[in-house]
Amino acid sequence: MNFKFTEENLNRIQKEINKYPVKKPAVMAALYVGQEQNGYISDEVIKEVAGLLEMTLEEVLGVVTFYTMYHQKQMGKYHIQVCTNVSCMLRGGYEIWDQVKNKLGINNLEVSEDHNFSLEEVECMGSCGTAPMIAVNEDYYENLNKEKVEEILESLSKTN
Ligand code: FES
Repeated sequence: MNFKFTEENLNRIQKEINKYPVKKPAVMAALYVGQEQNGYISDEVIKEVAGLLEMTLEEVLGVVTFYTMYHQKQMGKYHIQVCTNVSCMLRGGYEIWDQVKNKLGINNLEVSEDHNFSLEEVECMGSCGTAPMIAVNEDYYENLNKEKVEEILESLSKTN
């Protein structure tokens, strides 16, 4: 399926391009916008970004595969990232990981059958001072315990 940025998104990317003397540094922003518009980074999104920023497909793919925030398949409506890095791990990150995994019945990088949830174990998300934490899409939930995690998951289930 062909992918073309909307006019509005092209303008957003152009603003990023304008910040630099060359186009390449706008690649992360362009991919972010591409993922937002398309739902995930398809081969067509990569092609479009490469063309726009005068990069090779391999260069763009290198960025996509390096950063965990880019997904090459459609994730759930609620993409849940659980941090199990040191600070979170020491304060129960793995217990939360198991809890979320069991509750949703999915494993790392899997999507629930109803497409409402996907799950990802991640490294530090820069919120160590308020560990343990998870992110649901762009929102951080911090200073968690099992009860709070249960509440979050229940409230997300209800909004579907
Ligand atoms: S270790 Fe989890 S946010 Fe830093």
